[in-house]
Amino acid sequence: MSKRFEGQSALVTGGGAGIGRAIAIRLASEGARVLVADINDDAAQETVQAIGAGASATHLDVTQRSSVAAMVAEAVARHGRLDVVVSNAGIMDRMPFLEMTDEFWNRVIGLNLSGAFMCGQEAARQMVAQGTGGRIVFVASNSGLFGGRGRAAYGASKAGLMNLTQSMAIELAEHDIRVNAVGPGPTKTREDQGEVPPPSVMARMPMARFGGPDEVAAVAAFLAAAESSFVTGHTYFADGGYTVAGMMEG
Ligand SMILES: NC(=O)c1ccc[n+]([C@@H]2O[C@H](COP(=O)([O-])OP(=O)(O)OC[C@H]3O[C@@H](n4cnc5c(N)ncnc54)[C@H](O)[C@@H]3O)[C@@H](O)[C@H]2O)c1
Repeated sequence: MSKRFEGQSALVTGGGAGIGRAIAIRLASEGARVLVADINDDAAQETVQAIGAGASATHLDVTQRSSVAAMVAEAVARHGRLDVVVSNAGIMDRMPFLEMTDEFWNRVIGLNLSGAFMCGQEAARQMVAQGTGGRIVFVASNSGLFGGRGRAAYGASKAGLMNLTQSMAIELAEHDIRVNAVGPGPTKTREDQGEVPPPSVMARMPMARFGGPDEVAAVAAFLAAAESSFVTGHTYFADGGYTVAGMMEG
């Protein structure tokens, strides 16, 4: 494997499980010193064990500004700088729209969108202070492009995240900070997901299977690497063709 992140300092939120874990492992395998940040300390520690030398864990509650600021400070204290931030922590909880409570809405938006805002802002402030640029990658979702049953809060959070990516890209370009997002489709991160996605998804999914966390991680790594040096403000979907499919028969 090439070493695109040799000597670089990276942090991954929600790095204790699923897609975040795969991204942390991928960046480390290409030379990054990775800080794995998660609300689940045991899970973060497990990712660190899987990586081995060069990785460390920190506690993060991405909904709390002080916790996000402490995470960035920790990365700088450990590695002297911050080059790559992958803001991945998120929850995909569903509730019918007519029953959706303020508490539910605020929890999903607070974690998925406000949490990403705070991560992006704290990271960007550090990168601007360093004066050597940086790369920020968000983890969006194809649910940010379409309506979905039970997903009013989740979809809105991810749609907001894609627009946040655009605005940050515009304002941070002068600091040589690129901001992009990877948009996963259905990705196999839990045992209870079954062998294949549900029928309504399969019907419009050309590749007709779950993606693997490592397949999302490969795109996140590309967006974090120097080889995507002219790409900013975009969401790059890793979804087996789900977001481009229209008529699937004929
Ligand atoms: N799995 C999918 O099919 C899929 C599809 C599209 C988008 N996504 C997005 O990918 C990201 C990761 O999803 P996943 O399936 O790997 O989820 P996951 O539940 O497997 O992992 C999420 C991680 O985030 C951590 N976390 C939760 N709340 C946190 C908080 N307040 N502060 C810090 N860490 C917190 C969890 O402890 C966990 O380790 C999410 O943003 C999700 O919306 C997932």
